[in-house]
Amino acid sequence: MRVYRATALLILLLSPACAPRPEAPGASPAAGIAPTWPHLGKARVSGASKAMVVSGNPIASQVGVDVLRQGGNAVDAAVAVGFVMAVVDPEAGNIGGGGFMVIRLGSGEVHVLDYRETAPGRATAEMYVDDQGQPTDRSVTGHLAAAVPGSVAGLVEAHRRLGRLSFRQIITPAINLARDGFIVDWKRSGSIRGDSARLARFPATGASFLPGGRVPEPGERLIQADLGATLEAIRDRGADGFYRGHTAALIVAEMERGGGIITLEDLAGYRALWREPVKLQYRGFTIYSAPPPSAGGVALGEIMGILEGFSPLPPFASPALLHLEAEAMRRAYTDRYTELGDPAFVSNPVGRLLSPTYMRSLRRSIGKRATPPMSIQPGLRPGPSTTHYSVVDGDGNAVGTTTTLNDLFGSAVTVTGAGFLLNDEMDDFGTRPRSPLASGLVQGEKNRIAPGKRMLSSMTPAIVVNRRGDLYLVVGSRGGTRIITQVYQVLSNIIDHRMGLADAVAAPRMHHQAFPDVLGIEPGGFLPKTLDSLRSLGHQVEPLPPSGDIEAIMKVEGGLIGVSDPRSGGGGAGY
Ligand code: DON
Repeated sequence: MRVYRATALLILLLSPACAPRPEAPGASPAAGIAPTWPHLGKARVSGASKAMVVSGNPIASQVGVDVLRQGGNAVDAAVAVGFVMAVVDPEAGNIGGGGFMVIRLGSGEVHVLDYRETAPGRATAEMYVDDQGQPTDRSVTGHLAAAVPGSVAGLVEAHRRLGRLSFRQIITPAINLARDGFIVDWKRSGSIRGDSARLARFPATGASFLPGGRVPEPGERLIQADLGATLEAIRDRGADGFYRGHTAALIVAEMERGGGIITLEDLAGYRALWREPVKLQYRGFTIYSAPPPSAGGVALGEIMGILEGFSPLPPFASPALLHLEAEAMRRAYTDRYTELGDPAFVSNPVGRLLSPTYMRSLRRSIGKRATPPMSIQPGLRPGPSTTHYSVVDGDGNAVGTTTTLNDLFGSAVTVTGAGFLLNDEMDDFGTRPRSPLASGLVQGEKNRIAPGKRMLSSMTPAIVVNRRGDLYLVVGSRGGTRIITQVYQVLSNIIDHRMGLADAVAAPRMHHQAFPDVLGIEPGGFLPKTLDSLRSLGHQVEPLPPSGDIEAIMKVEGGLIGVSDPRSGGGGAGY
């Protein structure tokens, strides 16, 4: 495994043994970036000549590479990483959550697997509001927050259809890490510490992550025997080891213990679904991403479709660029709220939303000043509990997977005896069904809770193909609603601003999601005079809380470059 600071990349690039050269020379992004920006040059960069895995956790990346070396393909490695993340990165990696996997085979064929969670059969539109119609926190913490998990069905199905090694072979590393324990690093220790009061509320969660009643320190070993047993059941019985039999009974018993509503029928009925990818074009590049029930691909397409009409874009970090980007994002997110939901339940006018005519009309509606706000607050919350990993194998197969429990440690409920956390994905539905939009629509009408329905997501795993039709980039991130704008900015930094991947990931980011009407900026990243200019255009500029963990692989001449976001603790490995 090679992990370098960005400066060390130079050494890698000059080494004759392994000399991947970026396809486009990286321009200096420094103009427009404030000297106070801490991340410049700090992205963790890995190089490889053949195959690579980049994830939010270096242990998981190494396991993925081991699987590739054993003859596994990118799907095998991605499935192995998915199970390992459930062990070594419990705040976000999971078997109790869900996700989206975008796969591009070396042949050019592209598949998307949707293993988003579903609302339980007994869910109702008003289950999270109190007698006064006010939202409660039951959609976030506790048993009622949990939707029917999709991850195990997804990982098993991806392997069944496209894997090469035996399932036993690819799930074994996760079992070993659960049974024998793994060494907790500063990031995992810190995240458990940060949420320890919430975790301690649920005895099985406290037993798993606060052994002996205290936070595991960096360097200590964390053993998860119950989780190991659950993974063994999955090893032996596939998805049935989770959705039927002993594990299913433990989930339902946990529901009964805490007032949750997931039933044996809900579990037995869960299916991962293969979907057509959203296919986008941007300045000659083709981008494949997740379709509804993720809003990721469509919103990314709207942002890029609007901005492609400004050619060239204003310089990086200039007020003119940030204004245009904020206005494009505002429009894309407005459609996210009103136009998208689970396609099994509501219509998603994807073709119209991505049509050149519609893009043109949105572009024309952008003026020199900030667009006046609409007076609603859908209240989507960015949180830190998602993780993305990217894999490229020696045959050019590529996989981008984003998976989540929603909030950090999901609902904070661990299934007693089964050792895994349940998601709080129900909070991704519009949980306040009676709050009207200014336009008269009801908040999240298309994203209202209904039994069996998948809640709208922002996850945006993306695979980019260059102008010659070759694999170019695999990218994705954590960050709640900010995932979409993060992925957009990394792509635009590379394609429009000619940055190398490390600089593109490290560069400061902004975010606008229409509601609230705020132009968020990463503090310390942009020049004060830039922010003053944006304020003078009518934008309400505010600092963003830390978020984001881009994990990307770029194909370059002579090999692959992997970059892990300096904002987080991931890392890559390859050979
Ligand atoms: O699917 C979604 O859009 C959210 N549940 C993702 C949450 C998230 O990214 C939180 N973390 N960073």
